[in-house]
Amino acid sequence: MPLNLVAKAFQEAMLPALVVLNCGDTPWGRWATDWILCRSDYCARTSIARGTQVVVFYLDDQLAGFGSLGPTPRNVHKVRPLGMIPQLGLDIRFQHYPPDSEWPDRVSTAIVLHLLALAREQRYNGVVLQVHIDNRGARKLYDRIGFVPYKDPDDKNYQLMVVKL
Ligand SMILES: CC(C)(COP(=O)(O)OP(=O)(O)OC[C@H]1O[C@@H](n2cnc3c(N)ncnc32)[C@H](O)[C@@H]1OP(=O)(O)O)[C@@H](O)C(=O)NCCC(=O)NCCS
Repeated sequence: MPLNLVAKAFQEAMLPALVVLNCGDTPWGRWATDWILCRSDYCARTSIARGTQVVVFYLDDQLAGFGSLGPTPRNVHKVRPLGMIPQLGLDIRFQHYPPDSEWPDRVSTAIVLHLLALAREQRYNGVVLQVHIDNRGARKLYDRIGFVPYKDPDDKNYQLMVVKL
């Protein structure tokens, strides 16, 4: 059955309602939660100021997670125009969800595909992101959707990945 996933553009006024979001107790889960709730210096607010769109997703009216899409920082990438996913995260209740589903039918996949559709609308040729090398769940998700390793990052703890559109 298709997921009843609704996407809403993030607004500051949503923050009080978003505090219940919990992307998990892993380092990347905490980074994602802090990013959307603007608890860190680099967060949704600062990213929006650089032109990023932040989207909050609801599944059957329940807060399921968020994603983001924006331009790459100037002069960092030779191939242009590339979009970038600065951060995304799912509430722990919606990770690996629905539990008995195959990966194409999951909330995680739907959110990434939604961001790629936004990128196509904005005529990006591809989308890049950066993932911690130990974040095996996220790497598997991106790999399945078609992201491939993209040049060496400055920080060896991270893998840059790109998908062509
Ligand atoms: C990254 C994230 C969006 C992925 O969503 P998800 O619903 O957990 O992903 P899926 O279940 O669809 O796919 C992940 C796959 O990796 C596997 N996996 C998860 N954690 C794993 C781990 N620690 N080691 C190995 N495999 C792992 C899952 O079992 C699944 O594979 P399977 O379908 O073969 O069982 C979600 O986990 C999340 O929000 N994490 C915290 C924030 C984050 O990491 N954001 C990304 C920043 S780049």
